[in-house]
Amino acid sequence: MISMAHIREIKDYDKIAAGEVIERPASIVKELLENSIDAGASRVQVVVKKAGKQEIEVIDDGNGIPAGELKLAFEKHTTSKIGEFSDIYDLHTLGFRGEALASIKAVARVEMISKPGNQEMGRKIVFENNALVEERDVSAPDGTTVTVKHLFKAIPVRRKFLKKDSVEFAHISDIVTRYALAYHALDIKLIHNGRKVLDAPPSNGNLLNTIASIYGNDHAINMLPVENETDSFSLKGFIAKPCITRSSRSYASLFVNKRHVHSLEILKAVEDAYRGRIMKNRYPFFVLFLEMDPASIDVNIHPTKKEIKFASEKELVSSVRSWIRETLDASIHVPSTNPESLDAFTAQASKSSTGMRTSVSRQQQVHAGQGNAGLKPTANEGEGTHSELDTLIDSASKHVHAGILDDGTNGTREWRKQRTSGNGDDATIQGHPPAGGSTSTVSGWKPLIAGKGTRSIPDKGMFEVLPPINSLWGGFQLNDTYLCFEVSDDSGDLVIVDQHAASERIMYERVKKLFKDKGLGVQELLVPKPLSLPPNLLPLLGENLGVLQQFGFEIVEEPTQGKESKSNRFLLLKIPFIFNRKVDMSIIEDFLEDILCLEGDALQETKDEILKSFGCHSAIRAGERLSRKQAWRLLQELDQCDDPQHCAHGRPTFIRIKRTWLEREFKRTA
Ligand SMILES: Nc1ncnc2c1ncn2[C@@H]1O[C@H](COP(=O)(O)OP(=O)(O)OP(=O)(O)O)[C@@H](O)[C@H]1O
Ligand SMILES: [Mg+2]
Repeated sequence: MISMAHIREIKDYDKIAAGEVIERPASIVKELLENSIDAGASRVQVVVKKAGKQEIEVIDDGNGIPAGELKLAFEKHTTSKIGEFSDIYDLHTLGFRGEALASIKAVARVEMISKPGNQEMGRKIVFENNALVEERDVSAPDGTTVTVKHLFKAIPVRRKFLKKDSVEFAHISDIVTRYALAYHALDIKLIHNGRKVLDAPPSNGNLLNTIASIYGNDHAINMLPVENETDSFSLKGFIAKPCITRSSRSYASLFVNKRHVHSLEILKAVEDAYRGRIMKNRYPFFVLFLEMDPASIDVNIHPTKKEIKFASEKELVSSVRSWIRETLDASIHVPSTNPESLDAFTAQASKSSTGMRTSVSRQQQVHAGQGNAGLKPTANEGEGTHSELDTLIDSASKHVHAGILDDGTNGTREWRKQRTSGNGDDATIQGHPPAGGSTSTVSGWKPLIAGKGTRSIPDKGMFEVLPPINSLWGGFQLNDTYLCFEVSDDSGDLVIVDQHAASERIMYERVKKLFKDKGLGVQELLVPKPLSLPPNLLPLLGENLGVLQQFGFEIVEEPTQGKESKSNRFLLLKIPFIFNRKVDMSIIEDFLEDILCLEGDALQETKDEILKSFGCHSAIRAGERLSRKQAWRLLQELDQCDDPQHCAHGRPTFIRIKRTWLEREFKRTA
């Protein structure tokens, strides 16, 4: 939007929600970039040194500031974008408060050189310590260049609160990425410490090209177009098929009148539309643009202009929800429930060490397409082979659960009781534990709580401790998430295991032990896989390749032709063994995203968190259907844990619901 008006003071500026707008280097980049876009630039280059702590420079080819107005631009409440407060209800620019340059000049040294096309010479102005130190004519190309140095030099406390360079730069990169998406006709470059980090060339109005250049082709080919409108607003953009999900909202981009905004209501509406199609705690990837009459939104509710209010929020939310739902309904291939395909998958899955079957189609594809076929064979083929597991289950069935469960592969979620007769073990199976309640007669199975001898038993209550495994029977999977068993002793209680929490605990303890004893063990991929991470995390990834190697990841930067820039595309060559059962890139990428976002510099500070994250990402997920083998294996392995009662993050792995509680609830007892 080209601002042709002169810069002047806003008449009733006290109504503007101004305030602290410069919190970190990224705030400066945001404000300068917005100014360049408002100035109608077609090319903007953002050059930063040391994550902006040393220097930020934004160069544009926009309409420039007339020489006589340069000084005024740095005054408070002066702008060319509105004349009086009420103009914000007809706003067509990103800026309107007349505040940004004044705020930057208050916390840093700023130099601006600007030349409108109709001026012979450019004009340079420099402020230091909030005071004018230089103003003169210079020769310059059309447009504006702003250089900011010594951020927070005069406010050491604020400088101290800045995070390490990689984190600060991640904020900058995030902002530039969002603008590259919103203004995809614009040529935006981001250069950090001499390296080109983002290069989003103009995409001829094709947003999908920009999505491909930022997030990679594999994401772009899985996007669905959205285009809907009512009389008062329209929604355009792309949403990802449910096969692409993220562990956070980092891939969700919402723009209102091309302003990147945070609107929890709209985000939730989109997420609602995906409900039932993606797993719990997963978030969709989308780039959506809402357009509406500026009079129907209020951008003046937060100093950083990121939050806005909608006049007809209810209608908007419900339209967005149903439009997204319709798009998904129309385009999504519902995973086939054709028994043949399930059987084929089950057969394949059971060959892997966990053999998890999932109802999510992507995982089927990933297993089928990338499974162990994507790995180079090693001598040490993982923890537990099919035959070991069979022996384990056979032994458990023989001594404990014989015939109780079917194999769970016929699509039912119930593992039915099939009591056999004439077998001496049946007495135990059918709810009559050995006299004295001893479990030691059952070979190979330890009581869950007493197994390690030193575990303390928590207070009894409605939710109790898990009884010995051999006293559990029946069993079905609820919501593909909870494993429910009846306790076959006289108590008649119900035990419910959270499969993800239990699996997370198991994997966490396993990975911790491996890390301590002999290292995680690595597996080489047959074909290097490109990593797709949010662009703002790429610099962090680049800086942490050494640390990641200690955890079994070998990642290299893809080579480029040119010398001056690196590709910023990374290839995964080796993975820790713990992930080898299913080379699911989205799980690996989520894991990397998680650990790159951890606070703390030293590996020592974050090691345990990284190991927990290993546990979480390599664990069986909520929403995965398990066969009886997998269910019993999970119980058995949980039993072997040092702390079988909590997942790595402290949540309970199981609960026990007492029969007495049920009876009270049904008013059977007083
Ligand atoms: N890169 C630029 N090109 C042309 N004009 C600019 C540029 N940067 C700033 N200006 C002019 O300087 C004025 C003041 O900029 P400043 O960023 O302080 O306020 P604003 O953009 O009007 O509002 P806000 O505080 O919301 O950003 C702008 O209104 C605009 O006229
Ligand atoms: Mg501005």
